[in-house]
Amino acid sequence: MELKLKIWRQKNNKTKGRIVDYTLSGVETDMSFLEMLDLLNNQLIESGHEPVAFDHDCREGICGSCSLHINGVAHGPEKSTTTCQLHMRKFKDGETIYIEPFRAKAFPIIKDLIVDRSSLDRIQQAGGYVSVNTSGNTQDGNSIPIPKHDADQAFNSAACIGCGACVAACKNASAMLFTSAKVSQYSLLPQGQVERSSRVVNMLNQMDKEGFGGCTNTGACEAQCPKDISIDNIAKLNREYLFSKK
Ligand code: SF4
Ligand code: FES
Repeated sequence: MELKLKIWRQKNNKTKGRIVDYTLSGVETDMSFLEMLDLLNNQLIESGHEPVAFDHDCREGICGSCSLHINGVAHGPEKSTTTCQLHMRKFKDGETIYIEPFRAKAFPIIKDLIVDRSSLDRIQQAGGYVSVNTSGNTQDGNSIPIPKHDADQAFNSAACIGCGACVAACKNASAMLFTSAKVSQYSLLPQGQVERSSRVVNMLNQMDKEGFGGCTNTGACEAQCPKDISIDNIAKLNREYLFSKK
């Protein structure tokens, strides 16, 4: 396949970026999207040009670092799929593909397609944990019965990989889906009860502090989340906040 790529290039967050055109041939349908970018970068390096900077780690859909806007959609055209798990068979020979970084005030661009998503880490640090006694007297997890429904719900919420696609998809650049997944996950488990009230307040305060927007229930976050995190989590977060001892 031969593709026309329109890629956002930006030296750093102090300089202006722009879309640069590339024509890339030799793309195989069974390449992943990131392998297609690898091919481009090999050609750029061989011809003495600077490769395109993009983020990736696991390439297995679990780390959440391969966050790209592809043709205006977070993680591209395949539903419930991260960029690294997207394959070039989804595109046609001769197609033009726009590749841009996730855009949000709280995700400043580092270089080209790489953004700084440490704001999500700081929300997590504000409350996304449980107090665990690791002195050696820790109770065996299997000895704490958890209703199946709660365990399933918590597991579904815990599937969030912190990629930030929900933020990029949201017209308000809100991080509510991410934050609500973390709050829900712990609120459903016995281990999460100790910090239950403070967790939701602290995480929401941090979310506001980082410059994320508010949620207006549009649902774009849910539609573009690669892990199918349900917007029901946001309703749960709102209930948690209402009943928290603020
Ligand atoms: S809720 Fe979905 S889109 Fe948002 S960070 Fe988690 S996995 Fe990514
Ligand atoms: S590189 Fe880890 S989720 Fe894509």
